Amino acid sequence: MSSNDSTSQDTLFGRMAVEQNLCSEEEFKKCGAHLRKVAATNPTNMPALMVKHGFITKNQARRVREMIKESKSAAGQIPGYKVSGKLGSGAMAVVYKARQLSLDRDVAIKVLPKRFSEKSNYIERFYKEGKLAAKLNHNNIVQAIDVGESGGLYYFVMEYVEGKTLYDDLAKGKIFTEDEALDLIIQLCDALQHAHEQGMVHRDVKPKNIMITPDGVVKLADMGLARETSDIEAAKNEQGKAFGTPYYIAPEQVRGEVDIDGRADLYAVGATLYHMLTGRVPFQAKTPTEVMRKHLTDQIIPPDHINTSLSAGISEVIEVAMAKRKEDRYSSIEELLLDLNAIRSGQAPVVAKNKFTLEGLEQIEQEGIDIDLEGQQEYNDEIDRIVTKYRVIMIIMSAVIALLLLTVGYQMTR
Ligand SMILES: Nc1ncnc2c1ncn2[C@@H]1O[C@H](COP(=O)(O)OP(=O)(O)O)[C@@H](O)[C@H]1O
Ligand SMILES: [Mg+2]
Repeated sequence: MSSNDSTSQDTLFGRMAVEQNLCSEEEFKKCGAHLRKVAATNPTNMPALMVKHGFITKNQARRVREMIKESKSAAGQIPGYKVSGKLGSGAMAVVYKARQLSLDRDVAIKVLPKRFSEKSNYIERFYKEGKLAAKLNHNNIVQAIDVGESGGLYYFVMEYVEGKTLYDDLAKGKIFTEDEALDLIIQLCDALQHAHEQGMVHRDVKPKNIMITPDGVVKLADMGLARETSDIEAAKNEQGKAFGTPYYIAPEQVRGEVDIDGRADLYAVGATLYHMLTGRVPFQAKTPTEVMRKHLTDQIIPPDHINTSLSAGISEVIEVAMAKRKEDRYSSIEELLLDLNAIRSGQAPVVAKNKFTLEGLEQIEQEGIDIDLEGQQEYNDEIDRIVTKYRVIMIIMSAVIALLLLTVGYQMTR
């Protein structure tokens, strides 16, 4: 194995361990730096080093290794494709670059782990969603090409996208200007609008699934590979670690509701835009459970309070997109696009404005007129001050009149 090969093996292993929440990003980086330092004198590898430092257990190292080995062997056996390298890995899968021999073009193959195939009706859903995804045809959606099974594992063949993911930029600490963010988010919304029109909800919109080509074209990945409710359950009890931290997830998905519609994607778009413009995820916490709780109950810090250069308009748009109740959000991506395009052309968002007013009216209807206690107190104090002032004026005036009358009376009696 060449040293380049072993480096990429080590990176793949480390990435996977981080994605599965077995160790932290810092621990992975620390081991990476250590490996580079000792490479010439003391050949060791990432799994051994991680175990030695106590970052992961021997068993965890073995399982991650097995998963990589299995998926590599499955990818290598798919008829009609020749694997040429690895593209990356997430919490659930490894993605390989391959040549589709019949059409002589590069493709990406995602191999899903065994535990997926063991779930009841998963396979049925996998093929059904794969078929739906293949029907979608949009410049901003990673094109689905094929689905199938190899060596007991299920795989998904898709268009190969050269470039980076939005996550790569955010991880480097990039904060986008409003114009830059709008340009990318509008393309993302175009993709989602197309998918929603065909009756498909993505359910896992997040920066890692938003790829950007060197020409700045957005490609939404993983359409048709919907996140399973059971994964959310796993994250909640934090036993099943194979689940990234849900920074962009809609409250109704946290609650495990079954009738997830396009408004869940809308919330995730709002959360992604929030991250791009402020450099922070909307809710940060130590554990995935805590992050999910915050999506349910906490109010976001308005983006323009964090980045004061933002327009009030874009802040309103994010707040409407991220409303806790889906009824309070935009009713469709089309509506969101209206506002995003308005802001891009220098106008105020129209739909968000109406939503703000409507929400206010609904609240009055539901709760009666909501008295602002602090304001009311100030108002009462002001009245008191005016009354006191009048009283003083009246007393002085009465005194003056009485004095006048007395003077007049005195003059008359003389
Ligand atoms: N169609 C594709 N073309 C090129 N690279 C891809 C493609 N799909 C995924 N990747 C790469 O593989 C990585 C892992 O993807 P995935 O398993 O979906 O995990 P996640 O979405 O959590 O990052 C991505 O972050 C991306 O860098
Ligand atoms: Mg992905």
